[in-house]
Amino acid sequence: YSKHLLKGKKIVVSAGGTQEDIDPVRYISNRSSGKMGYSIARAAALEDADVTLVSCTHALPEPVGVHMIYVHDARELEKAVNAQYDDCDALVMAAAVSDYRPAVRAENKIKKEQHDHLNIELTENPDILYGLGQKKTHQFLVGFAAETRDVIEYGKAKLAKKNLNLLVANDVAQQGAGFNVSTNIAALIYKDGHIEQYPKMTKDDLGHIIIEKIVEGIN
Ligand code: PMT
Repeated sequence: YSKHLLKGKKIVVSAGGTQEDIDPVRYISNRSSGKMGYSIARAAALEDADVTLVSCTHALPEPVGVHMIYVHDARELEKAVNAQYDDCDALVMAAAVSDYRPAVRAENKIKKEQHDHLNIELTENPDILYGLGQKKTHQFLVGFAAETRDVIEYGKAKLAKKNLNLLVANDVAQQGAGFNVSTNIAALIYKDGHIEQYPKMTKDDLGHIIIEKIVEGIN
């Protein structure tokens, strides 16, 4: 139930996997469903926050009382979160951002008849969270780390490099964790170095825990 802990606070959450166009009908993406980010947005709305959810997917029901912004690729996501950043109290990057995109988006559908072999050249996308960390003033900045090994070590490194207040490290190789399931297994890594390891739980429950930590961090 709500304790109205975020009344008057603005929280921005990103969710889902970016889609990087190859041509008008094809794209490169990843297995993110958006569930984790939507759970966090719902938990924030239950605490009466002013919530903006920047979503890379249309597949999930819109959470009640949340402002929706739909985006397609990493560069659109970057624009949208940056436009919401200056006056927000906390921002959570749960979206799975493609590190690369096709160097060119073909204007027309690529035809099989024209290629025996097809190489798609990729170029690097901006690291959105790194940019947000660089220009952080008062915001409580939360990132995720999706790893398949050395989860805590990589998590600590991402927290430092991206100048975060909190990093949620999930081992996406474990059953019932990570992409496209309704549960997750996460460790919360804080700036001061302490770590809390949580057992498998629903993404809704983990969303509430993350929101609790944000409440402690911004009040
Ligand atoms: O959507 P679900 O199916 O519920 O799955 C949830 C999830 C596994 C996608 C989620 O829990 C998660 O881990 N999200 C982050 C996925 C990711 O991109 O991880 P990363 O380790 O590659 O990136 C680290 C952080 O930097 C993330 O907060 C990411 O949003 C951000 N990032 C990454 C690359 C990039 N170019 N820009 C970024 O901002």
